[in-house]
Amino acid sequence: MNIEMKGINKAFGTNQVLKDAGFYLKDGEVHALMGENGAGKSTLMKILTGVYTKDSGTVYVDGEEVSYKTPQEAEKAGIVFIYQELNVLFDLTVVENLFMGKEITKKFGVCDMKAMRKKAHEVMEKVGVNIPVDAVMSELSVGQQQMVEICKALMVDAKVIIMDEPTAALTESETEGLFKVINSLRKKGVSIVYISHRMEEIFQLCDRITILRDGEYIGTKEIKDITMDDVVQMMIGREIGERFPKRDVKIGEEVIKVEGLTSGKVFHDVNFSVRAGEVLGVAGLMGAGRTEIMQALFGNLKKDSGKIYIEGKEVTIKNPRQAIAAGIGFITEDRKTEGLLLEKSIAENIEIANLNKVSNHQVLDKNKQDTLVKKGIDEFKVKCFGPWHECNNLSGGNQQKVVLAKWVYTDPKILILDEPTRGVDIGAKKEIYNIINELAAKGVAVIMVSSELPEVLGMSDRIMVVREGEVRGILDGKDADQAKIMTLATGGSL
Ligand SMILES: Nc1ncnc2c1ncn2[C@@H]1O[C@H](COP(=O)(O)OP(=O)(O)OP(=O)(O)O)[C@@H](O)[C@H]1O
Ligand SMILES: [Mg+2]
Repeated sequence: MNIEMKGINKAFGTNQVLKDAGFYLKDGEVHALMGENGAGKSTLMKILTGVYTKDSGTVYVDGEEVSYKTPQEAEKAGIVFIYQELNVLFDLTVVENLFMGKEITKKFGVCDMKAMRKKAHEVMEKVGVNIPVDAVMSELSVGQQQMVEICKALMVDAKVIIMDEPTAALTESETEGLFKVINSLRKKGVSIVYISHRMEEIFQLCDRITILRDGEYIGTKEIKDITMDDVVQMMIGREIGERFPKRDVKIGEEVIKVEGLTSGKVFHDVNFSVRAGEVLGVAGLMGAGRTEIMQALFGNLKKDSGKIYIEGKEVTIKNPRQAIAAGIGFITEDRKTEGLLLEKSIAENIEIANLNKVSNHQVLDKNKQDTLVKKGIDEFKVKCFGPWHECNNLSGGNQQKVVLAKWVYTDPKILILDEPTRGVDIGAKKEIYNIINELAAKGVAVIMVSSELPEVLGMSDRIMVVREGEVRGILDGKDADQAKIMTLATGGSL
């Protein structure tokens, strides 16, 4: 299917987010759409698929002007959108989600569960995943939920599939499965729009790339004709220099020590410590138990045994309240359900975590509120209307910056960051690394869980590798490399 979007304009209130933007998609190509957080990528695709209406501009599909009023209309025409924010119903099962509104029925309209289960199995096999079809969505990992979304799109006979950051929460093998599917779809003539901040994936997978900057169309290129540096230059209009900023911090006393931490079958006998000013990277395959260990430290997951010492004193942490009181801040990997109150504003989100800073003797102080929130927006370069911008309407990467601001201002002694740069553009990633370095310089003990190996290697003083709930080794950042981490993460020894 050929798609041409021309002269697209769109404003939300006074915020002009698309300015004469364009997009040109050919039959059977994988076309990357890139741009900084808030550049307008998701919005442009939502206009194509009838989620939003454009203020002006034209859209042609196979030469004919179209204007879909709803996503259902676009889907009927063969254009399917897999959203960045998952669009699943968490209380329903996998099959129920897959067949939502498209149930296979027997006579008298009774659902044919057997047929639906069979078809669900077939689709999953095609993608190479094995998710129990009768599991309730809320019990699945974010990665599995994402995979269900992808399968849902594959059930429709689509001619164009738009994937908005599909791999942000996928395991390596799930990602591989997805790439295989994309390649076979391409062979069948299906076109894919691939939105991602992961440069390596774009260069591995895509045929062409279109870049948006501040809502404007910058250009479309053949991938084989350009380099990653060219892409960065087009995206942000300047060079960003070193990807991982240097940190020159004197590492101090031990701040946190964990001894023999165990929780059922999830993880056992976890031992590590982090010093003031130190960044401990935590690597491992997805599902290795990294997040669970962090959840237990934060009192969100029950532990059976083990001791936690903060500044030499043993502490009891049975719930997040006790963790916060002990000086732990936690930025979760799942900003949508845990990190942010999406229907609240930036201001409210920052204030809720920092009530002591914005009040005098328990009375809210308007001035202090304003100052703190403005500081957050400035320091973290949150792209928004202002303090009252609802978090729902921020772009993905900007939501992540609000989560960071929220926790950094609580002045934690220990800050746990779980996948802090997921869905964040290359410029903003560097801003987040700078923030991590500043925190370390202030003496915060930083624990950073990340699935992006270059990031773990670029940012950590030491790297703890977890596999199947067990710490397989702690490497010195100076002599760690991808091969060593992967060896430990997959069960080998050095
Ligand atoms: N429903 C909405 N109401 C108001 N503003 C919105 C809405 N949706 C998006 N915006 C604004 O439009 C701009 C573009 O957002 P969009 O989500 O398209 O960015 P993006 O390029 O997809 O970014 P990211 O990489 O972070 O996902 C942002 O400034 C965002 O705050
Ligand atoms: Mg987006």
